[in-house]
Amino acid sequence: MVDRTDDRHDLDPGSGGVSRRGFLGSVVPAAVGVAVAKDALGEPQKAAPPAEVPAAEPSKLTLVVNGRTHKVLVEPRDTLLMVLREKLGLTGTKPGCERGECGACTVLIDGLTVNSCLYLAIRAQGKKITTIEGLAEEDQLHPIQQAFIENGGIQCGYCTPGFVMAAVGLLLANPHPSDDQINQALVGNICRCTGYVNIRKAVHAAVQKGGESS
Ligand code: FES
Ligand code: FES
Repeated sequence: MVDRTDDRHDLDPGSGGVSRRGFLGSVVPAAVGVAVAKDALGEPQKAAPPAEVPAAEPSKLTLVVNGRTHKVLVEPRDTLLMVLREKLGLTGTKPGCERGECGACTVLIDGLTVNSCLYLAIRAQGKKITTIEGLAEEDQLHPIQQAFIENGGIQCGYCTPGFVMAAVGLLLANPHPSDDQINQALVGNICRCTGYVNIRKAVHAAVQKGGESS
């Protein structure tokens, strides 16, 4: 007589030895569990609307840019990049990634290179800000600018102000950098056109001519 309680008679062909009864025994409780959990959790809850945050008051800042003093109304969240371009009309400083990765927005603050997209304008009060517009003296380009022209370090030119400012910052800190130090100083700047060779050549050439003047 065949014992019908024996699971071996309930095997599906190709089931790898798992019986239909065993399979259902494991799946059904799981499905029931999901349904119960869904029921317990109910419909997805809508997030509560964010609490009203009062708008921060703009502050009147005094910014010294390229030797000129500017009074400007600035919100606490305004970046130096935004203020330079949109409030002071100094559009030589370029927005690129706007998260500190491309160097297009490089300016000098008290002689040090800074990504202006990450620098809040309110922090710049009382400091000396230099942008690409502040390098040339009357008709005389800065030696780094001149070297970019002479060495073909420019194609579309979008990255150029950032590279020039990074190179100027390097020469202010170290008037006689080694090749490695030049390469290191430019590592935070991205160019999508030139392939970098002529940019580096330009900075090397300016260094050899005794580059720094600002
Ligand atoms: Fe500032 Fe790219 S725009 S680092
Ligand atoms: Fe075009 Fe550098 S020259 S991005």
